[in-house]
Amino acid sequence: MTLSRIASPAQMLRWGAAAWFVAATVGQWAFVLFILLFFGGHALSGDLAGLNDKPHVTGYVPGDVFGNVQFLSHALMGGVVTFAGTWQLVPAVRRRWPGLHRWNGRLFFGLSLVAALSGLYLTWGRGSQLGPGSNLSITLNGLLILAFATLAWRSALKGDIVRHRRHALRAFLLVNGVWFLRIGIMLAGLVLAPLGVRIDYQGAVFVGVSFASWLLPLTVLELYLRAERSTRAVPRYAMALTLALLSLVMFAGSAAAAVFMWLPVL
Ligand code: HEM
Repeated sequence: MTLSRIASPAQMLRWGAAAWFVAATVGQWAFVLFILLFFGGHALSGDLAGLNDKPHVTGYVPGDVFGNVQFLSHALMGGVVTFAGTWQLVPAVRRRWPGLHRWNGRLFFGLSLVAALSGLYLTWGRGSQLGPGSNLSITLNGLLILAFATLAWRSALKGDIVRHRRHALRAFLLVNGVWFLRIGIMLAGLVLAPLGVRIDYQGAVFVGVSFASWLLPLTVLELYLRAERSTRAVPRYAMALTLALLSLVMFAGSAAAAVFMWLPVL
C-alpha cells in the first residue's frame, strides 16, 4: 500500500505538525504548572527564602530587593508567556475568536520582550552566569527573541499575514528555548549518564545542548516551511515523519524533566 493511499502529503504534514504541537503543549504546560506551583507558591506565601529549595545560579539573595524582584518576576513572566504562546498556534482560536488571538498575541509579544530584557539583565547585570559558552547562547537567544517578536508584531500591524506567521513561529520557538534547554539536558543525561559521562555547565555537552535548544527548533521550522511550499511528496512525508519522531523525543524529555527536575522540589 502506498503512503498516498493512507493520506495525501499535505494531510500527512498536518498530522505531523499536530503531533508535534500536542507533545510540545503537554511538556510546556508541565513546565508552566511547575512555575506556577513553585515560584507562584513561594511568592503568595511570602516565603522567598524557600525559592532556594531548588538550585539556581543566583536565587533569592537577602537584601537584594531589586535582583530578587527581577528574578521572581522573570520566572513568573516565563510561565505566563509560555502558556499564552500555546493558544496562538491553535487554528480554531484564530478562526473563531480573532479578537482573542489579537489580545493574547499582544500579551505574548509584550511579555516576550520584557522577559528577554529581564533575562539579559539577570545574566549581565545580576551576574547569573554559567560560563562563556552558555552566556553567549542565552544572549543570542534573547536578542533573537527581541528581533523576531518585534518583526512578528510589526508584520501583524501591517496586515502582512504570511510574514507574520513565519516570524511569530520563530518567536514562539525562541521563547521556548528555555524549555527546550531543560528537556534537552534531561535527554542528554538519560543517554550519557549510563555511559559514565558527567554533564557540567562549562563542558561541551551543556554548551552544545544550549545552542541546540534554539538553533535546532529554528532549523526544523525552516525545513517545515519549505516542505509546506514544496510541490513534491517526498519532502512532505519526510517532514511529517521527522515531526512524529520529534514528538516522541520531546514527550520523553518532558516526562524526564517532570520526574527528575520539577516534581522533586514541589
Ligand atoms: C522569554 C523567554 C524566557 C522564558 C520563558 C524564561 C523563563 C525562565 C524561568 C521559568 C526561569 C526560572 C527557572 C528555574 O528556576 O527553573 C528563568 C530563569 C532565568 N532566566 Fe529566563 N526565560 C526567558 C528568557 C531568558 C533570557 C533571554 C535570558 C538571558 C539572556 C534569561 C536568563 C535567565 C536567568 C539568568 C535566570 C536565573 C537563573 C538562576 O539564577 O538560576 N532568560 N527563566
